[in-house]
Amino acid sequence: MGATGTGRLAGKTVVVTGAASGIGAAFAQRFVAEGATCLLADVQDEMGEALARSLGDNAVFHHVDVTREDHVADVVDTACRRFGTLDAMVNNAGLLGATGPIATTPAEDWHRTLAVLLTGVFFGTKHAARVMAPRRAGAILNVASTAGVQGGLGPHAYTAAKHGVVGLTQSVATELRFVGVRANCLAPGAVATPLTALAVTGDPAAVDQVAASMARRSPTGRPPLPDDLAGAATFLISDEAWYINGSVLVADGANEVLQSRAHRQYHDSPPT
Ligand SMILES: NC(=O)c1ccc[n+]([C@@H]2O[C@H](COP(=O)([O-])OP(=O)(O)OC[C@H]3O[C@@H](n4cnc5c(N)ncnc54)[C@H](O)[C@@H]3O)[C@@H](O)[C@H]2O)c1
Repeated sequence: MGATGTGRLAGKTVVVTGAASGIGAAFAQRFVAEGATCLLADVQDEMGEALARSLGDNAVFHHVDVTREDHVADVVDTACRRFGTLDAMVNNAGLLGATGPIATTPAEDWHRTLAVLLTGVFFGTKHAARVMAPRRAGAILNVASTAGVQGGLGPHAYTAAKHGVVGLTQSVATELRFVGVRANCLAPGAVATPLTALAVTGDPAAVDQVAASMARRSPTGRPPLPDDLAGAATFLISDEAWYINGSVLVADGANEVLQSRAHRQYHDSPPT
């Protein structure tokens, strides 16, 4: 096994957390298609293993709970042991977490949300830096959200965690620039996945229904899907992005962050 051939990620070893479903699954598929060897890390073993098998020899599933530092350290060490190196770490695992009014948000739900969305990213960033810094090479990509750059676009705990992901990534980028390691954020707007389906309908399986309703509300009539983020992620972890460090790439079709910041949008209807 080992990454061979051509592609924008040819020869690279990449760990993707939350790779069994949604955005992480789309990333793993694209990274392998672009020549990478991919370790798919998730708590959903059956789905993750099935996806890894379908991707062939350059994909392996690894059980990882990102709230467990020993699990995250282990997948990083496994990448180095089996493939000789870790070129990119994509901290993507997530959940919707605590919802509802702040006055009734249980502390336990708050802590669980931050454990996955923020502490999980901390562990991934920490252990990637541990092996990348001595090699003076590597790329860390943390999946934030439009809710990480603008309040009011998600539940409170989710929003707080995603703002934390942006802050952590930018802080770490200023340190790791001295050792040739980059850390960036991708901040997607809503795309149709089980997470969004749960948020919109209460049923994580209602992905097609959510995609159809997104298509109806989309200015282009096209529903944003996980694969629509895969090109941006590929670019950010590729050598083409060597000078991009500490950045937050918003990928929301201008439907969320700009829309919510504008008091009144000048372009508030389609051109005639
Ligand atoms: N779907 C969207 O609209 C959207 C928008 C912006 C940001 N995001 C972010 O993208 C990321 C992926 O979300 P998605 O929409 O693909 O959701 P999803 O539910 O389809 O996938 C999330 C994956 O993370 C895994 N996961 C959850 N907790 C974990 C843990 N403790 N350890 C390891 N894996 C764990 C799940 O098993 C699942 O496979 C999340 O960080 C999410 O916040 C999603």
